[in-house]
Amino acid sequence: MASIIVHGGAGDFGAEDDSGPCIAGCLNAARIGKRILDAGGSALDAVEAAVVCLEDDPTFNAGFGSALNLRGEVETDASVMRGQDGGAGAIGCLKDVKNPIKLARLVMEQTAHVLLVGDGARDFALEQGIALLPPGALVAPKATAKWKRALQMREGKGHGTVGAVARDDAGHVAAATSTGGTMLKRPGRVGDTPLIGCGTYADDALGACSCTGLGEAIIKATLARHAIDLCAGGGSPHQIAAQAVQQLTRFGGDGGLILVDAKGRVGFAFNSARMARAWIGADGIEGSGFGA
Ligand code: GLY
Repeated sequence: MASIIVHGGAGDFGAEDDSGPCIAGCLNAARIGKRILDAGGSALDAVEAAVVCLEDDPTFNAGFGSALNLRGEVETDASVMRGQDGGAGAIGCLKDVKNPIKLARLVMEQTAHVLLVGDGARDFALEQGIALLPPGALVAPKATAKWKRALQMREGKGHGTVGAVARDDAGHVAAATSTGGTMLKRPGRVGDTPLIGCGTYADDALGACSCTGLGEAIIKATLARHAIDLCAGGGSPHQIAAQAVQQLTRFGGDGGLILVDAKGRVGFAFNSARMARAWIGADGIEGSGFGA
């Protein structure tokens, strides 16, 4: 029953809505993760590989292509959680690391901590042999163009964020989420993505969840943990996801989430105009979408 679902971010991207590259990028990431699962790999390896693929694709707001803060810089957040033992790692407000999700996993595996931020996270990257990119290397031309428009309009449109959740043949689940955060955010702002229980959660007994959308509302809703707790009541993952999103609406946020339950069934829901997603079930059947 190995299955995976990924998202490429939720929001209202206005005139910049372009479903083609978003769906293609999500399908590509889901296929990379599913190949790992089908080869007997772990859910953790699958979600990390899927998120690396999305971080490297400038279509998405994560890694290269991240949204820019008020100063026009990239500051990334990411987290990973494995359901087997509750292991979790995260980074926040991180500059110049190509694949933040890899560093989040190293925080989980190589430290006694869950979350490292800013200069401390960069120092840890260097300690782990991860070379820092030159300043500005994660700024994609498309992100700069969006940033200039957002500055003119004095508002950042859309949200973005990428994520993946999977269940492997051994019955373990994992979740990974990565983002550049919100466009025009204050330098130093940290969203839901690196906060365990908010942007990311995994528990083998129930399932795994990755969120996207307005981080401030997702934090208040502790959305990922809320969705996974709802799995205890039974119901299909789609029903559970839809119920969880009501909590996001209650806190005045737009966004969505993906989840896989302990049986390997996948689901998603969003209250925003769009959420790019793709999934591959245990039967190998693929699905994808962008709008409702
Ligand atoms: N959900 C991503 C963020 O608000 O940072």
